[in-house]
Amino acid sequence: MDASPDSPIGVFDSGVGGLTVLDECLARLPPEHFVYFGDTDWFPYGDKSPEQLRGRSEAIARWLVGQGAKLIVVACNTATAAALAHLQTRFDVPVMGVMTAESQAAVQSSRSRRIGLLATEATVASGSYQRMIIAHDAGAEVTAVACPGLASAIQRDSPYDEEIVEMVRDYTAPLRTARVDTVILGCTHYPMVEKLIRRNVPADAVLISSGEEIAREIAVTLERQGMLRPGGEGDYRFACSGDPAAFRSIGSRFLQMPFGDVEQVDPGFIDVA
Ligand code: DGL
Repeated sequence: MDASPDSPIGVFDSGVGGLTVLDECLARLPPEHFVYFGDTDWFPYGDKSPEQLRGRSEAIARWLVGQGAKLIVVACNTATAAALAHLQTRFDVPVMGVMTAESQAAVQSSRSRRIGLLATEATVASGSYQRMIIAHDAGAEVTAVACPGLASAIQRDSPYDEEIVEMVRDYTAPLRTARVDTVILGCTHYPMVEKLIRRNVPADAVLISSGEEIAREIAVTLERQGMLRPGGEGDYRFACSGDPAAFRSIGSRFLQMPFGDVEQVDPGFIDVA
């Protein structure tokens, strides 16, 4: 079935982090339908290899296209860094990732040209953000900090304990030393602890996150392609690969909207090596 303006937008992440992208999209694009997939069975992505992430992301994107998706949003920095280009060569519908818009926004907002990045190990190791920032401003200085365990600490039952406070304090230390004035939250889970991060970075630092930037890009892309759903109120639904009850309980804490039922789906794996 060919995609039409009435078709849903497919969104995926390793877990609940992409909800920070989804809720911006729900606010900015009320008529659109959305299908969200959280890969909780494979979580976390931050310690996976690029090959594993490409194979799994392709399988998930195939499932989303099977649900009729007219556009796919990779609402995960780690999967974007490892798999976006691969997905774009595999599907006819537009596949959009995070990172590009945030890099540009960071360069635009930084006066000192000292930019901090907090992201997973895989994202920092890929060097993607560093390259994109430099492409926008060759004179920018990037302090990139890998934050192992932070997304997992957020995606558990009680994220606001002393352990996470300690983690945030430690991971932001290099950003204080470098006196950055702009910080990219380079993992879609991190806006869920934005206030903790804000307390630990230089007081005047601007925080840049994926949700707002990508929601704007999606709106422009759909409009230019004549694929915006013209009116009415869209719906949204959820699927995940792990325990649906656990996903629902954590997800409904973070999404600032009602959360319906969650379907359990095994998208499989495509060997792309
Ligand atoms: N939310 C994901 C990201 O934006 C990663 C978390 C993980 O699975 O390690 O990078």
